[in-house]
Amino acid sequence: MRFQLKNVLAMFAVMFMLFAVVQVSPASAAIADGQYTINYKVLKDQTNQPSRLGDYTEYPAKLVVQNGKQFVHLKILSSSLITAFKTNQNGVLTNAEVVSSDAAANTRVVKFEVPNLSAKLNAYSEIYIPFIGYTGKYNVQLQFEPNTITPAI
Ligand code: HEM
Repeated sequence: MRFQLKNVLAMFAVMFMLFAVVQVSPASAAIADGQYTINYKVLKDQTNQPSRLGDYTEYPAKLVVQNGKQFVHLKILSSSLITAFKTNQNGVLTNAEVVSSDAAANTRVVKFEVPNLSAKLNAYSEIYIPFIGYTGKYNVQLQFEPNTITPAI
Protein backbone atom coordinates (compact mmCIF):
# COMPACT_ATOMS: atom_id res chain seq x y z
CA MET A 1 0.00 0.00 0.00
CA ARG A 2 2.77 2.46 0.96
CA PHE A 3 4.61 1.51 -2.20
CA GLN A 4 1.56 2.37 -4.32
CA LEU A 5 1.16 5.75 -2.64
CA LYS A 6 4.82 6.52 -3.39
CA ASN A 7 4.26 5.66 -7.05
CA VAL A 8 1.19 7.87 -7.28
CA LEU A 9 3.08 10.77 -5.64
CA ALA A 10 6.01 10.29 -8.04
CA MET A 11 3.63 10.29 -10.97
CA PHE A 12 2.07 13.56 -9.79
CA ALA A 13 5.54 15.06 -9.36
CA VAL A 14 6.48 14.14 -12.94
CA MET A 15 3.18 15.53 -14.26
CA PHE A 16 3.74 18.76 -12.34
CA MET A 17 7.24 19.14 -13.76
CA LEU A 18 6.05 18.51 -17.33
CA PHE A 19 3.27 21.07 -16.83
CA ALA A 20 5.79 23.62 -15.53
CA VAL A 21 8.08 23.10 -18.54
CA VAL A 22 5.18 23.52 -20.97
CA GLN A 23 4.15 26.73 -19.19
CA VAL A 24 7.56 28.41 -19.41
CA SER A 25 8.24 27.59 -23.05
CA PRO A 26 5.39 29.00 -25.15
CA ALA A 27 5.47 28.20 -28.90
CA SER A 28 6.33 31.78 -29.83
CA ALA A 29 6.75 34.96 -27.84
CA ALA A 30 4.26 37.69 -28.67
CA ILE A 31 5.67 40.62 -30.64
CA ALA A 32 4.92 44.05 -29.20
CA ASP A 33 2.61 46.34 -31.18
CA GLY A 34 4.65 48.37 -33.64
CA GLN A 35 6.22 48.37 -37.08
CA TYR A 36 9.03 46.10 -38.16
CA THR A 37 10.69 44.70 -41.26
CA ILE A 38 10.84 40.96 -41.86
CA ASN A 39 12.54 38.93 -44.53
CA TYR A 40 10.80 36.09 -46.31
CA LYS A 41 10.95 33.75 -49.26
CA VAL A 42 8.35 32.97 -51.90
CA LEU A 43 8.48 29.23 -52.50
CA LYS A 44 7.10 26.97 -55.19
CA ASP A 45 4.08 25.24 -53.72
CA GLN A 46 4.97 22.41 -51.29
CA THR A 47 8.72 22.78 -51.91
CA ASN A 48 11.66 24.73 -50.54
CA GLN A 49 12.62 25.99 -54.00
CA PRO A 50 12.29 29.68 -54.88
CA SER A 51 9.19 30.56 -56.84
CA ARG A 52 9.32 32.73 -59.92
CA LEU A 53 6.76 34.99 -58.23
CA GLY A 54 9.46 35.93 -55.71
CA ASP A 55 11.16 38.06 -58.40
CA TYR A 56 8.10 40.29 -58.36
CA THR A 57 7.94 41.25 -54.67
CA GLU A 58 10.11 43.59 -52.59
CA TYR A 59 12.38 42.52 -49.70
CA PRO A 60 12.13 42.84 -46.80
CA ALA A 61 8.40 43.08 -46.14
CA LYS A 62 6.85 45.33 -43.51
CA LEU A 63 5.36 43.71 -40.41
CA VAL A 64 2.73 45.70 -38.55
CA VAL A 65 1.58 44.39 -35.16
CA GLN A 66 -1.71 45.98 -34.12
CA ASN A 67 -3.55 44.96 -30.96
CA GLY A 68 -1.47 41.79 -30.96
CA LYS A 69 -2.46 40.88 -34.54
CA GLN A 70 0.33 40.45 -37.10
CA PHE A 71 -0.12 41.95 -40.55
CA VAL A 72 2.40 41.73 -43.38
CA HIS A 73 2.59 44.49 -45.97
CA LEU A 74 4.15 43.25 -49.20
CA LYS A 75 5.10 45.44 -52.15
CA ILE A 76 4.27 43.83 -55.51
CA LEU A 77 6.47 44.87 -58.43
CA SER A 78 5.31 44.95 -62.08
CA SER A 79 1.92 45.32 -60.47
CA SER A 80 -0.01 45.42 -63.74
CA LEU A 81 1.18 41.88 -64.60
CA ILE A 82 0.30 40.38 -61.20
CA THR A 83 -3.45 40.55 -61.51
CA ALA A 84 -4.38 38.67 -58.32
CA PHE A 85 -2.68 37.96 -55.01
CA LYS A 86 -4.39 35.90 -52.32
CA THR A 87 -3.30 34.38 -49.02
CA ASN A 88 -4.82 31.70 -46.85
CA GLN A 89 -7.04 33.31 -44.24
CA ASN A 90 -8.73 30.77 -41.96
CA GLY A 91 -8.52 28.09 -44.64
CA VAL A 92 -9.77 30.27 -47.51
CA LEU A 93 -7.57 31.85 -50.21
CA THR A 94 -8.56 35.49 -49.82
CA ASN A 95 -7.65 38.58 -51.87
CA ALA A 96 -5.06 40.61 -49.97
CA GLU A 97 -6.21 44.15 -49.19
CA VAL A 98 -4.55 46.78 -51.37
CA VAL A 99 -3.09 49.41 -49.02
CA SER A 100 -1.60 51.69 -51.68
CA SER A 101 -0.57 51.71 -55.29
CA ASP A 102 1.93 53.73 -57.27
CA ALA A 103 0.95 53.91 -60.95
CA ALA A 104 4.22 55.54 -62.05
CA ALA A 105 6.38 52.87 -60.39
CA ASN A 106 3.88 50.12 -61.34
CA THR A 107 3.79 48.78 -57.77
CA ARG A 108 1.14 48.15 -55.15
CA VAL A 109 1.32 47.27 -51.47
CA VAL A 110 -0.96 44.51 -50.20
CA LYS A 111 -1.74 43.62 -46.61
CA PHE A 112 -2.76 40.33 -45.01
CA GLU A 113 -2.77 38.78 -41.56
CA VAL A 114 -0.18 36.16 -40.63
CA PRO A 115 -1.08 34.61 -37.26
CA ASN A 116 1.95 32.28 -37.28
CA LEU A 117 5.12 33.78 -38.77
CA SER A 118 6.99 30.48 -38.42
CA ALA A 119 4.66 28.37 -40.57
CA LYS A 120 4.50 28.45 -44.36
CA LEU A 121 1.54 30.52 -45.52
CA ASN A 122 -0.32 29.30 -48.61
CA ALA A 123 -0.76 31.98 -51.23
CA TYR A 124 -2.05 32.20 -54.79
CA SER A 125 -1.35 34.52 -57.65
CA GLU A 126 -2.57 35.17 -61.16
CA ILE A 127 -0.23 36.57 -63.79
CA TYR A 128 -1.32 38.03 -67.10
CA ILE A 129 1.15 39.25 -69.71
CA PRO A 130 -1.00 40.48 -72.61
CA PHE A 131 1.72 41.02 -75.23
CA ILE A 132 2.84 37.38 -75.14
CA GLY A 133 -0.53 35.94 -74.19
CA TYR A 134 0.74 34.39 -70.94
CA THR A 135 -1.73 33.60 -68.20
CA GLY A 136 -0.58 31.83 -65.02
CA LYS A 137 -2.63 30.79 -62.00
CA TYR A 138 -0.35 29.42 -59.32
CA ASN A 139 -0.28 28.34 -55.72
CA VAL A 140 2.89 29.39 -53.92
CA GLN A 141 3.93 29.50 -50.26
CA LEU A 142 5.37 32.34 -48.20
CA GLN A 143 8.03 31.45 -45.65
CA PHE A 144 8.70 34.30 -43.24
CA GLU A 145 11.93 34.45 -41.25
CA PRO A 146 11.06 35.55 -37.68
CA ASN A 147 14.77 35.79 -36.78
CA THR A 148 15.06 38.76 -39.19
CA ILE A 149 12.37 40.88 -37.50
CA THR A 150 13.83 44.36 -37.02
CA PRO A 151 12.06 47.44 -35.62
CA ALA A 152 11.29 49.87 -38.48
CA ILE A 153 13.03 53.22 -38.21
C1 HEM B 1 5.65 38.14 -64.60
C2 HEM B 1 6.28 37.04 -65.09
C3 HEM B 1 5.97 35.65 -64.59
C4 HEM B 1 5.63 35.25 -63.33
C5 HEM B 1 5.47 36.10 -62.05
C6 HEM B 1 5.46 33.81 -63.36
C7 HEM B 1 5.12 33.03 -62.28
C8 HEM B 1 5.09 31.67 -62.30
C9 HEM B 1 4.85 30.85 -61.15
C10 HEM B 1 4.55 31.38 -59.75
C11 HEM B 1 4.94 29.56 -61.54
C12 HEM B 1 4.74 28.31 -60.67
C13 HEM B 1 6.09 27.77 -60.26
C14 HEM B 1 6.78 28.73 -59.30
O1 HEM B 1 6.25 28.99 -58.21
O2 HEM B 1 7.88 29.20 -59.69
C15 HEM B 1 5.22 29.56 -62.95
C16 HEM B 1 5.36 28.41 -63.73
C17 HEM B 1 5.59 28.43 -65.06
N1 HEM B 1 5.73 29.52 -65.87
FE1 HEM B 1 5.59 31.45 -65.29
N2 HEM B 1 5.69 33.38 -64.64
C18 HEM B 1 5.99 34.47 -65.40
C19 HEM B 1 6.28 34.48 -66.75
C20 HEM B 1 6.33 33.37 -67.54
C21 HEM B 1 6.63 33.39 -68.97
C22 HEM B 1 6.92 34.63 -69.79
C23 HEM B 1 6.59 32.10 -69.38
C24 HEM B 1 6.79 31.55 -70.76
C25 HEM B 1 6.12 32.05 -71.78
C26 HEM B 1 6.28 31.27 -68.23
C27 HEM B 1 6.15 29.91 -68.26
C28 HEM B 1 5.96 29.11 -67.15
C29 HEM B 1 5.96 27.65 -67.18
C30 HEM B 1 6.15 26.78 -68.41
C31 HEM B 1 5.75 27.23 -65.86
C32 HEM B 1 5.74 25.79 -65.37
C33 HEM B 1 4.55 25.05 -65.84
C34 HEM B 1 3.37 25.15 -64.95
O3 HEM B 1 3.50 24.96 -63.72
O4 HEM B 1 2.25 25.35 -65.48
N3 HEM B 1 6.13 32.08 -67.14
N4 HEM B 1 5.31 30.85 -63.39
